[in-house]
Formats: sequence, C-alpha cells, structure tokens
Amino acid sequence: MSVLPRSSDQKVTAPGILARKSLSQNNSAVTHPRITCLTAYDYPSARLLDEAGVDVILVGDSVGMAVLGYDSTLPVTLDDILHHIRAVRRGTRRALLVADMPYGTYHVSLEESVRNAVRLVKEGGAEAVKVEGGERRIELIARLIEAEIPVMGHVGLTPQSINSLGGFHVQGKSAEASRQIERDARAAEAAGAFAVVLESMPRELAARVTAQLRVPTIGIGAGPDCDGQILVFHDLLGLTAGHVPKFARRYADLGGEISRAVTAYCEDVRAGSFPSDAESYHAPGTPQAPEAVRTTR
Ligand code: KIV
Repeated sequence: MSVLPRSSDQKVTAPGILARKSLSQNNSAVTHPRITCLTAYDYPSARLLDEAGVDVILVGDSVGMAVLGYDSTLPVTLDDILHHIRAVRRGTRRALLVADMPYGTYHVSLEESVRNAVRLVKEGGAEAVKVEGGERRIELIARLIEAEIPVMGHVGLTPQSINSLGGFHVQGKSAEASRQIERDARAAEAAGAFAVVLESMPRELAARVTAQLRVPTIGIGAGPDCDGQILVFHDLLGLTAGHVPKFARRYADLGGEISRAVTAYCEDVRAGSFPSDAESYHAPGTPQAPEAVRTTR
C-alpha cells in the first residue's frame, strides 16, 4: 500500500510553489498535488493552518471585510496588514507567507510601491506579496522582483477595483472580457509572478488560463481545474455573517458553535451555576483547598 504524505515538513517557498507546476509528457503543464492556500489574520489561526499543512497562508486585505467590519477591502491600510501579518508570522513555520498589498499602497508611484512592499517583508516577515491586476502591473511586478520580493498576481475579479467594476460580479463572461483576463494572467506571468490568483470567472476560462500558464494558478470561484485553491478562513469555517458566495464551501459552522457556547455561558452566569465550587479557589486550610482548580492563567 502506498501512503501519500499529507504534507512534508519542508518549508514552502515561492520557487517551490512555482516548481510544483511541471510539464507532463504531452507538454501540458500539471500540478499534483494541487496547492492549498487559505487566508489568516491572527496567530492562533495561522498556527492551526500551518500545523494542518496548508501550503500558502495569505494575509489578505479581505481582513477588512472578514475581521474589521468594512463592506469592501478599500479602507484597509498598510499598517492594518502589518499589524495582522506580524501575528500570523509568529504562528507560521512551514507555509509560504504572502502579504496582500492593500489598495493605495501600489497605485501612486513605483518607488513608493517598492518601499511599501519592502516594509511588508522587513517589518511583517512576508515572504512574498500579492498585487491585483495584470497588464497594468507589469512594471510594478518586475520592480518588486528586482527588489528580491516574489510576487503573486491576481486577475479576474479584483476586489480593489470594485468601484470601477461596479460590484462583486463574476468576470470574463463576454469574449472580450475573457480575452482581457487571459492577457492579464499572461502579463503577470511574463513580468515574473510565481503564481497567479484567478478570482470569480467561468471555470472554462480558468481552465484555459491554467493550461496556458507555466506558473501555477490559484483559483477562488474559478472552478476545479486551477493548480491550487484559496478560500477566506472565515468563509470556510462558517464565521462570515451575511452573503457568502456559492464557491465558498463551508467546512464547519463555527459561528453556530460560538453562538451556542456564548448563550450557554450567559445562561450559566445568570443562573449562578458558573463558576461551580470546583472552578473556584479556596482559602488555605479549608477542606476543598487541595482540589483547587489547576488551570490558572
Ligand atoms: O484578500 C484576499 O483574501 C484575497 C484572496 C481571497 C485571493 O485576495
């Protein structure tokens, strides 16, 4: 019987992710096993994802919607990402740690963009950065790579473009729009990106792009034919309030679990049944003293 290792303990690197896509005998590119990516925004979730063997942890600007309560990713700042990635860094050992460059941090000048990306590496411990856009980012991606910063591209639905796109809609449905996405993905690859996120597009288009590129594609709402998949941590675990897109399979209902636990706690406190005597400390010399609860914090 052959046993596939769940994941090796080997550190995941940007060149390692790139090397996962290789040419098969008929010259088509394949990635097996597929690349697993998830977002994380804090230490405990990063530690759990890393220990579970996730390949890539992204400190996404989705933190704005998933954690900070904004209704888009636009208000997220470089300092927000720095704050969260420092915590995620402390919980990440094996996975590749990627920082999202938030809106406004790479839109003014190339110099300022590189300076911001360098801060994510130096102060946040990022091992790569992600930028949205394809053809428009060729120069930027090349400059970041020149500064020794691996870059993940992101095309299709780019949430930082919500005002110009007019909403969170599936992209690439018309022939011209799908050709533009193909051009964007090829541009990110040509500029040197080690992987490209394909977000919210018909699976047929994502499959075509995946077959064309020599770097891995990471899908989200782009069907099963990509070289890897990414989801937002809170969507995966049932912690997202409100609308969740149909591609975001929910693997647990932690929101429901938390509500149940908090309701039970409130009921116990109101009824006086929490804490119990066993959960209380006792004065020295009282009969219960040796049994005092030991889980002090
Ligand atoms: O910010 C984010 O979480 C992302 C992924 C969903 C790709 O960009």
